[in-house]
Amino acid sequence: MHDETVLDARIAAAAARLAAARFVAALTGAGVSAESGVPTFRDARTELPSALRAPELVRARERPIALPGLWATFDPRELATPGAFARDPKRVWDWYAWRRELVANVAPNAGHHALAAIERRVPAFLLATQNVDGLHAKAGSQALVELHGSLSRVKCSREGTIVVTWTAPDDGLPPRCVACGAFLRPDVVWFEEMLPEAALARAEDAATRCDVMLVVGTAAEVYPAAALPLSAKRGGALLVEVNPNVTTLSSAADFAVRAPAGVALPALVAAAWPEAVDRSGT
Ligand code: OAD
Repeated sequence: MHDETVLDARIAAAAARLAAARFVAALTGAGVSAESGVPTFRDARTELPSALRAPELVRARERPIALPGLWATFDPRELATPGAFARDPKRVWDWYAWRRELVANVAPNAGHHALAAIERRVPAFLLATQNVDGLHAKAGSQALVELHGSLSRVKCSREGTIVVTWTAPDDGLPPRCVACGAFLRPDVVWFEEMLPEAALARAEDAATRCDVMLVVGTAAEVYPAAALPLSAKRGGALLVEVNPNVTTLSSAADFAVRAPAGVALPALVAAAWPEAVDRSGT
């Protein structure tokens, strides 16, 4: 059967279950933002607008940036661990400042908007994202937990207090906490760190109570987030994976929709609620 027909059949079958669902949960990863121009972490190739190439201090050490995903271009041990920040706070601060600027210059895509539309159409919904880019909130998602934090927030690296405004000091080092003088750091989860408790608890609760879980744009390799779909499956939920590539989760999926999120998710919404889409267009 032609790929297109397989895709349509899978979308139609998954859409029927989605339309009848009591509680829909979704787990998203970097792939849902790829079509907005945000690099993923482990993909083969990520093209970046030249204006948003990484600051010199990083590129001088690494290969040119339009190569594999972030973690193939940058060493996460040197940029996304408490040890890396202790060793070289300026380097880590500058890298996250570059990512913050990058996501400030992009917009949510049709995939983000489709998830917000699903939230408006089902009785109960929760979106748990691993992304720190804030694009789901920009697309109008309300029932949303950010499992790995957000680039838009900064906090004191000693007390953990969120800092809303800060001024970059002349020495190029990260700004300091006005209360205790410690460096400020991005409010994102680094490797070796725990996820925000409340966010994880809400995501785990939704995974056990949902009857459909959409898993979109994640390689499902980073835990505890990657455990959520398996717990939903154990709870009897239908698992729908949306990813152009096969992942470690694919064998557990009831439907694997091999298409980009910006294509598959609007198609799912249109198939699940054809009448609503005609009226509102989303
Ligand atoms: P990855 O980069 O590991 O995986 C991205 C996934 O998205 C891959 O499986 C791709 O096949 C898929 N993909 C690419 N383009 C897509 C598209 N247009 N539509 C749908 N899927 C697409 O990113 P994550 O799984 O999100 O954590 O990574 C998880 C965590 O690892 C991140 O949150 C980050 C990283 O280290 C921390 O830094 C703590």
